[in-house]
Amino acid sequence: MTHADGNAQLRMRLERFQGRTVAVTGASGSLGQALLRQLHRCGAQLIALTSSSNALTVLSAEGQPIPLEQVRWRCGEEQDLQPLLSRCDVLVVNHGLNSHGDRSPAAVERSLEINALSSWRLLELFASLEPREQQREIWINTSEAEIQAAVSPLYEISKRLVGQLLSLRSLDLAGPQLRIRRLVLGPFRSALNPIGLMSADFVAGEILRQVSWNCGLVIVTPNPLTYLLMPISTLSRWLYFRAVSRP
Ligand SMILES: NC(=O)c1ccc[n+]([C@@H]2O[C@H](COP(=O)([O-])OP(=O)(O)OC[C@H]3O[C@@H](n4cnc5c(N)ncnc54)[C@H](OP(=O)(O)O)[C@@H]3O)[C@@H](O)[C@H]2O)c1
Repeated sequence: MTHADGNAQLRMRLERFQGRTVAVTGASGSLGQALLRQLHRCGAQLIALTSSSNALTVLSAEGQPIPLEQVRWRCGEEQDLQPLLSRCDVLVVNHGLNSHGDRSPAAVERSLEINALSSWRLLELFASLEPREQQREIWINTSEAEIQAAVSPLYEISKRLVGQLLSLRSLDLAGPQLRIRRLVLGPFRSALNPIGLMSADFVAGEILRQVSWNCGLVIVTPNPLTYLLMPISTLSRWLYFRAVSRP
């Protein structure tokens, strides 16, 4: 890529979010903060959705606190976010947890509720909002665990569930009013995965780059198999769900 191409791409990334309101769940986590930093660089108005009661300060690359509106929410109470989400152009569903080797009933419930059902409810809620002049977007952070082992059975089960629900409901919800993007990420360092290979800032930068190319399937991973298998998997699910279900 030439220097001029690189500049043109950066300009496109900046223009896409200029003045748009973007809400991010899991805002205090590693990727949440990295996405807020990147989106701030692109001129977005930021809403940090967090389940934590602590004040959230996210520093820009220059070490300055970035302006954001912090809003507390809880999984299970997604409907309460309706007024707030009505003024959002983009919703990034990014919260998640990893139960690792735990297979207790409590861990099953927690994993399904947080990783799958609350994301699905946010998708339905965001899709039901009054249309805006510009197409709304929802990005759902599933994981490479949709199709690969993650050494964590409940994490895999819950991420596969949300991935499948996303494929099924996209048949009805995606359209001129709503653009749905699936984020499929490989291992990066965070509280959820302290030994991840990539940094959250690198992953957030790559996500924004692929969004600037208007990708619906955003893949960031060092694992080449995911680039091959994930498009096949989403396409085959799309064909199967379309054939055997109705709107
Ligand atoms: N790290 C990886 O290798 C990896 C790979 C693929 C995909 N992912 C996905 O990327 C997303 C971000 O993860 P991360 O790696 O940045 O981990 P992280 O630093 O642990 O961030 C996850 C955030 O999710 C929110 N969260 C946790 N429990 C919650 C609950 N009960 N209710 C509501 N929110 C809750 C918390 O943010 P608040 O306190 O702000 O609510 C938490 O900081 C997750 O969906 C994860 O599955 C991670």
